Amino acid sequence: MSAVFEIAHRLRPMCEADLPRIHRIELASYEYPWTPGNFADSLEAGYSMWVREADGEVIGYYAMMAAAGEAHILNLTIAPSWRRHGLGRDLLEHCLARACDHHAEKVFLEVRTSNAAAIALYHTSGFVDLAVRRGYYPARGGREDALVMKRELTC
Ligand SMILES: CC(C)(COP(=O)(O)OP(=O)(O)OC[C@H]1O[C@@H](n2cnc3c(N)ncnc32)[C@H](O)[C@@H]1OP(=O)(O)O)[C@@H](O)C(=O)NCCC(=O)NCCS
Repeated sequence: MSAVFEIAHRLRPMCEADLPRIHRIELASYEYPWTPGNFADSLEAGYSMWVREADGEVIGYYAMMAAAGEAHILNLTIAPSWRRHGLGRDLLEHCLARACDHHAEKVFLEVRTSNAAAIALYHTSGFVDLAVRRGYYPARGGREDALVMKRELTC
């Protein structure tokens, strides 16, 4: 068994107390991270927000909004030192199961066209390319396109 799994892992709903740790992971993961206020607002709005812990420390999380038969994944992140052990895929599967709980039939997300790791994760998890939103994201020296991806759910 990989050393990563020799310690206790669990998934649980996100809470306000997680936000300082999540902020550190955001800063390490994105050039344009979500702020703690973005997470607090999403918690307040009742979005589906979960964290993955290893030995009691948050090492990944996601935020998903679900309504009217559709779900939108807003954020899905694994801390840098925990990547490439299948945890991102596991977190995504958990997120899709929660989308089913909300009776979503379709799941959408946007991803930077330069984000090869995330795009590969989504393609190999049943997502298909739907559209490109030109200049959707801020980027150094200009804007970057977003790839809109979609997955049909058969819950
Ligand atoms: C995208 C992310 C969540 C993947 O998490 P992870 O735990 O490393 O992913 P996994 O180990 O579960 O890998 C699942 C699949 O993703 C793809 N993948 C992950 N990292 C990759 C990389 N660096 N290069 C290419 N493909 C990659 C592969 O298809 C992989 O399957 P494989 O291991 O069978 O090849 C992680 O890289 C991350 O948090 N990135 C920064 C935040 C981000 O960009 N989030 C997505 C925003 S839309």
